[in-house]
Amino acid sequence: MPESTATVYLITGANRGIGLSIATVLARRENALVFATARQPAKAEALNALAKETGRVEVVKYESANEEDTKSLAQVIEDKAGKVDVVIANAGVQTDFDSILKTTHQNLTQSFDVNAVGPILLFQALYHLLRKSSAPQFAVVSSALGSIALGFPFESDAYGISKAAVNYAVKRISLYLGQNDRINAYVLHPGVVTSDMGLHATTSVADSGAGFEFPPDLLISPEQSAKFIADLVDNASLEKTGGKFWDATTGNEIPW
Ligand SMILES: NC(=O)c1ccc[n+]([C@@H]2O[C@H](COP(=O)([O-])OP(=O)(O)OC[C@H]3O[C@@H](n4cnc5c(N)ncnc54)[C@H](OP(=O)(O)O)[C@@H]3O)[C@@H](O)[C@H]2O)c1
Repeated sequence: MPESTATVYLITGANRGIGLSIATVLARRENALVFATARQPAKAEALNALAKETGRVEVVKYESANEEDTKSLAQVIEDKAGKVDVVIANAGVQTDFDSILKTTHQNLTQSFDVNAVGPILLFQALYHLLRKSSAPQFAVVSSALGSIALGFPFESDAYGISKAAVNYAVKRISLYLGQNDRINAYVLHPGVVTSDMGLHATTSVADSGAGFEFPPDLLISPEQSAKFIADLVDNASLEKTGGKFWDATTGNEIPW
């Protein structure tokens, strides 16, 4: 199929939260074609309404780290657009607020699967479609909690480990394919966001007895976060953003 003349975006985890808000921002652009994933497309009411309203959104079923879903997602994009310009791997899970001492095998493997294995398989499946773009971007929504250097004063270690792992993977992608294929691969922190995940995190951390509370003025809405992420994506370039870890809310780098 001939490559689409639109800017082709893929956003995973677009059923709610930050992903839905990013899809909303992108779908309002005239020359955009947005592939947006949900685990249960038939139940993704807000996303389906956005698709109907704009005519620029294709809702696709995708469970992170499910190989069959990942391959058929890539096939849908290939069939309908022939390329992908910007991938925003946003789907994620925060299973628990426990330390290394307490977190469970299940929490560790689920976090690792959804937050790290998923984006890696996604990259593998989309590599040939990214190479068809004149300015390919592979952006992963990570978290400042995945920074080994920052060391946050509360515990969500299964989550932090999984985000540190995906950071490593994206750095490798950037180092080895960034120069040859000009794929602009980077990770970003979306802010502390009042999505389901962010609200649960702020109350869980406050109740944990760790003595840490997120300052209320740090919290931003999913819509604000999506605007910051869209600005980062719009102003990204291989030379500027490739292989780096960005705080989308400030435009500053985060130490690995
Ligand atoms: N909120 C924050 O403060 C914050 C801070 C730092 C980083 N982040 C990161 O930002 C991203 C978006 O988070 P959010 O705050 O919007 O969270 P959210 O409100 O909990 O939404 C998570 C999204 O990911 C999808 N998802 C969860 N597990 C999945 C799986 N196994 N396969 C496919 N999709 C899955 C969910 O789908 P369903 O609706 O089907 O469950 C939903 O669309 C995540 O990667 C998160 O780690 C968030």
